[in-house]
Amino acid sequence: FYVDMIRKRARPSYPPQRSSRRIHPLSSSSTAAASVTVFLAALSCSVSAFVRSSHARATPPSSRSAMFVPGSLARLRVFANKSAPFRAVASSSGSYVPEVPSLASDLYASNSDTLAHMSRLSLAPMMEYTDRHMRHMIRLLSSRTLLYTEMVAANALAHQYDALRGCPDGAFDDHMIRRFLSQQAGRDGHEYPGCVLQLGGSCPDALSAAARISTVDALRDPDASAPLYRYTALNLNCGCPSEKVAGKGAFGASLMSDADLVRSLCDAMAKGSEGTLPVTVKCRIGTDLQFDGDVRPSDEAMYSSLCRFVETVAAGGVVTDFQVHARLAVLGRSYSPAQNRNVPPLRHDIVRKVARRYPDLTFHLNGGVDALDRAAGVLEEGDLRGVMVGRSLAADPWGWAGADRVLYGEAGAPVASRRRLLELYGKHADREEELWDPAKIRRRILRPVQALFAGERHGKRFRIALDEIGGRPKQERAGKRPVDETPLSELLLHAADSTMDEEVLNMSPEESYEKKRQGAGEAASGVGSNRRTAAIAEWDRIRKSEPESATACAEGR
Ligand SMILES: Cc1cc2nc3c(=O)[nH]c(=O)nc-3n(C[C@H](O)[C@H](O)[C@H](O)COP(=O)(O)O)c2cc1C
Repeated sequence: FYVDMIRKRARPSYPPQRSSRRIHPLSSSSTAAASVTVFLAALSCSVSAFVRSSHARATPPSSRSAMFVPGSLARLRVFANKSAPFRAVASSSGSYVPEVPSLASDLYASNSDTLAHMSRLSLAPMMEYTDRHMRHMIRLLSSRTLLYTEMVAANALAHQYDALRGCPDGAFDDHMIRRFLSQQAGRDGHEYPGCVLQLGGSCPDALSAAARISTVDALRDPDASAPLYRYTALNLNCGCPSEKVAGKGAFGASLMSDADLVRSLCDAMAKGSEGTLPVTVKCRIGTDLQFDGDVRPSDEAMYSSLCRFVETVAAGGVVTDFQVHARLAVLGRSYSPAQNRNVPPLRHDIVRKVARRYPDLTFHLNGGVDALDRAAGVLEEGDLRGVMVGRSLAADPWGWAGADRVLYGEAGAPVASRRRLLELYGKHADREEELWDPAKIRRRILRPVQALFAGERHGKRFRIALDEIGGRPKQERAGKRPVDETPLSELLLHAADSTMDEEVLNMSPEESYEKKRQGAGEAASGVGSNRRTAAIAEWDRIRKSEPESATACAEGR
């Protein structure tokens, strides 16, 4: 009903102005109704969060950590095909009852096909990093990498959805929606197909509304042929350990203690998208809270608890695909998100074991996959559907330029060299600066390409040059330097030409890959892997020194 209402009544108008665009107001009666809806939804979310947290506190730790012995696989058969996107076949004992009605949809089928087609490498969701600029840059490098957005809080989107429905101020300003959801300017479809929206939340109503607003094309620009954003799937964040998310927010990794809730949240997301989008879950191996605060539970305990989580979530018939960060999340001690990404040991073996146990489900391994040849090695055994990579793709993107060839068997990469990549990225940069205020956005546009020459001689000079270019618009505005009308694309190329060697600029992805792989003494001495670790450490150092950098999943918006 609401989707229809929005389509009929809320056609946006887009005056040619920067960043803030307005949509026609709805009537005052719907305004009042929407305000009541917002209030009731907020109340219901708060009450359910309170009840959940009280329940968690009231439940004796021993019963929370009771060991689960995974049931026979024959009890769980999940299908996702064109005619019946969501279907779970219940066991003869009736323990798995499908909760989502069959919602046939061609869109769902084509999105599922896309997930399968782009399954071997995913860009991990990273707050403040996997914004539309970075996703665009990675898409230029690889046409088959699945791109995850940063986590978007469902409550924020639900609020926008209610605001759109009610337009309390008389006109809807879609600025926030654009900030949360928009894909690259120009809408030439570059990110679609193959972009997954990650949502964070623990309230079914909010997640459903968030899924709805990410699906409807209510914010269509009348002059454009495509919607402002279009996603291939939705993903629920069950892995973020940040105190703001898993603690006060009671979502992220803390959801791993309540698999039934996760199942109903995914159900709500699927319904919110009207069955058009597959829903996937990103999680950890588990959390210490599932083991009475033990940060070193036995292998068997971790394995069986992950099995229980996976089986319970998949039993709803909505989720068939999991991205597992192969570490325990430590929530009971004051670990920072960064510590939680580094200190708990990686347990790829446990993820693999679970993947082998459920061949009808698909698993993506995340955590510590730091080079393309490693990713290829991880996938050799065939038990995993793919790898998900975060820091390494950000710290050394060109190191992954051969992904289409190495992981997917394509003839080559979409770009021939880093120079070509910068030319193409420059077009994106110019479009963005036409639409948004350069003083606010230039640093964000430049961030994804800063590490393009990681590990190369003079790579640091290039980074420093970009840093200087990034600061110019603010200085110009403050009258500290004369206004320069040179397009950002030209500045970008000039920075590369003036700092990097011609040979490096024009080196093909294939040459770079071989050079990295067969670097002097790499295999024998581990020099190569040290260099990779150094690239990630350097990226982390720069990240922390940036004024607007996020140090936790929840920060930075
Ligand atoms: C800066 C930063 C922000 C992150 N933000 C998110 C997030 O929003 N959602 C999420 O599920 N994981 C987030 N993560 C975790 C990554 O998705 C990934 O699970 C983790 O970095 C391990 O993968 P890697 O070793 O390949 O980096 C973030 C990681 C970093 C470094």
